[in-house]
This record gives sequence, structure tokens and C-alpha cells, in this order.
Amino acid sequence: MNTPTKTAFQITPKADRASPAERASLLANPGFGRVFSEHMAVVTYTEGKGWHTPQILPRQPLTLDPAASVLHYAQEIFEGMKAYRAPNGEALLFRPDANARRFRHSAERMAMAQVPEELFLDAVTQLVALDKDWIPAADVGTLYIRPFMIATEAALGVKPAAEFKFLVIACAAGEYFSQDAGPVSVWVEERTVRASRGGTGEAKCGGNYAGSLTAQMEAKANGCHQVLFLDAIERKWIEEMGGMNIVMVFDDGTILTPPLEGTILRGITRDSLLTLARDKGLTVREEPYAIDQLYADAKSGRLKEAFACGTAAVVTPIGTLKSAEGTCVINNGKTGEITTALRKALCDIQYGRAEDTHGWVKQVS
Ligand code: PLP
Ligand code: COI
Repeated sequence: MNTPTKTAFQITPKADRASPAERASLLANPGFGRVFSEHMAVVTYTEGKGWHTPQILPRQPLTLDPAASVLHYAQEIFEGMKAYRAPNGEALLFRPDANARRFRHSAERMAMAQVPEELFLDAVTQLVALDKDWIPAADVGTLYIRPFMIATEAALGVKPAAEFKFLVIACAAGEYFSQDAGPVSVWVEERTVRASRGGTGEAKCGGNYAGSLTAQMEAKANGCHQVLFLDAIERKWIEEMGGMNIVMVFDDGTILTPPLEGTILRGITRDSLLTLARDKGLTVREEPYAIDQLYADAKSGRLKEAFACGTAAVVTPIGTLKSAEGTCVINNGKTGEITTALRKALCDIQYGRAEDTHGWVKQVS
């Protein structure tokens, strides 16, 4: 299905665009978040006037007043989504409406202006249409799209800003984790927490990620790729990882993931995988799961598989969990069958290789 575009963006194409050979060399092995496409979308909000001056410009530095609220009080939210190259060369987006909706919820939580979903989708589709050549080949990766909003009002009083900018940038993305080493290792964080009830855990705001970085450093120092956070009150219940949700698979084929009770990001990949698991006849449980139970279930063999899921991480198997107390190995450190099957089912839809029975995929024309 084509996505209709309505907002009249003023488009200023970059004058000295990369040659096909330069682009091909940059896209051959892009890593994650370093090879950026050539344009960006920018829309301005002013209280009393609303959203105005929609532009697509050559990607360039921003000019900000040093008193801009985002620099002091962190009024900032973002989204993460991808454009996929279909077998026929077309650009596909996966559930972009869900990102637009979550962006509205994040804005509401952070007392920021609401970006109408239509404006969000228009900015994303028009940027992707212009920078379509920056979508890597399907066997290399995707174009990762980063819509975000910042408070630009120059005012040091602590209050919701009256001026914002909504921007969209994009970068080529290979695997978030190097796949060569197989399943990833995860550090169980017992010292700091990511979110608490009533906090901002469910919003996709930059501050949540800043707060997760000491744990991520600790993970790295302990030889782990990622960090797993526990609940803030009992330090017992598994919540989510630094930048992805977590799913467990049991020997009876049941899938379990922590419930969405305000502290966990409502992952679109999580939701899609739970739907695909139900389609395959698996039983899905959204229930609290204690870390000690996980250790016991991994030991007894009841816990067969665990994986991380998110836009950047896609579906990444977890081979080991480490904490100050020791190491817990899942499925002998190997990728499990259900993890592989769910990853394939999801990617086949995202890349336009399988029938999209849920109406999730939108073609960018
Ligand atoms: N949890 C966190 C903290 C994340 O940053 C992400 C990534 O966006 C997710 C979960 C997964 O969300 P999604 O599947 O919508 O990308
Ligand atoms: C995403 O998956 O889109 C995220 O925002 C997570 C981050 C680790 C890049």
C-alpha cells in the first residue's frame, strides 16, 4: 500500500551528492549509526502558531541558543524505525503508524508539543523517498530512521518549552551486534535501575538512555554486550535491556515477556513478535518473571531460549547472563529454534519477502 503524503515540505536537495561509487563504498559495511544519509527533515513549532516551515534540507549542524531548554532540562524524545529494501528494489517501512503513535505518547509524558501522526509520517516518507539510494542491499542491512524532537526555547525557567523542532535523520545500519560471535552476553544490573513506576520508562526520551550508560559501562567491563535491568522496588523482576525488550522461550513452547506496566518501552518489535508467535500457535504470556527463577529455569533446562528484540537489534539470541554472583548459560550458548523461526518470520515480512497478512508494511513511493 502506498502512503499518501500531504505536508508540503520545501525540499532543498544537497548540491554535491555522493557518487554511486562513493555511496556503494560507504554502504558496503556501514556498522550502526555512523554512515548518515544526505538530507534531514526539520519542522518548527511555536506556541500560538503551531507546526510550521516544513523543510527537507541537506544534513547539517543545528544552530541552538545555549539556553535552549533541551540542553538544560532534557526535553527530548526520539523514535527508531527502518526502511527496508524489497526484492523489487522498493523502499518499505514497517508499522510506521505505531512509531508515530508512540512519539505522541512520549511527547505527552515529557510535556512537549504533539506532532500530528500525519506530519510525522509525511516527514519520514518524504525523507526516505529522497534518500532512498542510502538504503543498503537487503543482505547488508537497512536505513535506520531517527525522528526526534527537541525543546529549542531559550529560557532557563523550569517549564515546558514554547518552541520545539521536530527532525528526522537517517543512517545506514548493519547488525547492531556483530553476529560473528553468535548469541550475546548480558550483564544483569543490580546496582542501578532504568525506570520506576510513575517515571519516564515508557517514554522514548534521551534521559532514559543517559541513565542507562553507567550500567552499560559495567556490562562492557564484565565482557558483556548489553545490560538487563530489574524492577526498581524489589530488584527482582526482569524488566528490559538498555535498548531492547527481552523474551524467554520455555520447553513447552511457551513464550514469556514482562508485562507493560509503565516502566518498560512498548516495543513495536516485541508486539509484532508476540503476534507472529500466536500465529504459529505458541502460547504467549505477558507476566512478571523473577531473575532467580530465570537462573533456576536455565539450570533445569525448562528455559530453552532467550532473546533481545528491538528495531536496532531485530531478534538477537542471548547466550549468557552474568552478574556479580556468577554466570548463567542458556541453551548451551547456542541460538534456539524458536528464536531463529521468529526472526525469519519477522524479517521476511519487513523485507517484503513474505505475505503481509497484518497490514504492517507501507511502501514509500
Ligand atoms: N526497549 C528500549 C529501551 C528500546 O530502546 C527499544 C528500541 O527502540 C526497545 C525496547 C524496542 O522497541 P522497538 O521494538 O519499538 O524498537
Ligand atoms: C532502536 O532500536 O530503535 C533503539 O532506539 C535502541 C537503540 C539501542 C539504538
